[in-house]
Amino acid sequence: MNKPAILVARAVFPETIAHLAQHFEVEANPDDAIWTKAQLIDKLQGKVGAFTTGSERIDAEVLAACPQLRIVANMAVGYNNFDVDAMSAAGVLGTNAPDVLTETTADFGFALLMATARRVTESEHFLRAGLWTKWSYDMFAGAEVHGSTLGILGMGRIGQGVAKRGAHGFGMNVTYHNRSQLSPAQEADCKARYVSKEELLKTADHLVLVVPYSAASHHAIGAAELALMKPTACLVNIARGGIVDDAALAVALREKRIAAAGLDVFEGEPKVHPELLTVPNVVLTPHIASATIPTRRAMARLAADNLISFLIEGKPLTPLNPEALKP
Ligand code: GLV
Repeated sequence: MNKPAILVARAVFPETIAHLAQHFEVEANPDDAIWTKAQLIDKLQGKVGAFTTGSERIDAEVLAACPQLRIVANMAVGYNNFDVDAMSAAGVLGTNAPDVLTETTADFGFALLMATARRVTESEHFLRAGLWTKWSYDMFAGAEVHGSTLGILGMGRIGQGVAKRGAHGFGMNVTYHNRSQLSPAQEADCKARYVSKEELLKTADHLVLVVPYSAASHHAIGAAELALMKPTACLVNIARGGIVDDAALAVALREKRIAAAGLDVFEGEPKVHPELLTVPNVVLTPHIASATIPTRRAMARLAADNLISFLIEGKPLTPLNPEALKP
């Protein structure tokens, strides 16, 4: 019997392809070509499943052109590349890759917070440029981390991971704002206090963004919100581009209306707002918060297992829109 055909839209671990190939006829993309929408549609012809990485947009146009498609499995916890309503309407299941990256991503949130507060990359650039000729008492003086106030916007699994690192590791006073308040037990575990968004902005010494991207969170941090923050505050975004208005942030950084920012995600990435590339008080990383090999292996494995569990056994592991399966 012919195996069902699937598409793996980006280069992944050879072991992931081998795992999938036990069950499917796999068309892969070993050269990691970035396809246009028309090329993606072309590659998806005849495929019942697709493995995506968060860069491939699955919208009504793609779905209408690919009637055989039944499932798209994202190798990412975020899924703003999916038009979930259109997928449900087309009867196409979407899955993401939660949990397996939580601690690794929270580690990176803290790495970026530390690098931003303590001016790690700015001072390294200074040193590499041969500008370090003498020690001075205030050279690259940064913001205190231990004992300061850590504000978290978006208190899901990763937000709670960042909170625990701050509270238990660095004695930080943790506040958060989220769509829903955590249970008292969860708050106690993270030593975190729920506050309004306004209080969060006004009081945080370090504000970490971990909120999922949606129309509602678009530019959740813009000029007005930046204006509420302390001039000494640091902003860290490990969530998604588009949550911060990058143009407004570049102005706030240049005019020192906040002290510094650490950004792993950008509006329109991999392009970066040109102003952000020229201001010194920002740490920039290319969307690597979950990038350790064990975690990326686990994310790829979960995406692959979603395809196998659904297409072979009828049971997806981490479905986003189970309503897509209703007759
Ligand atoms: C990475 O950004 C992810 O959503 O997994």
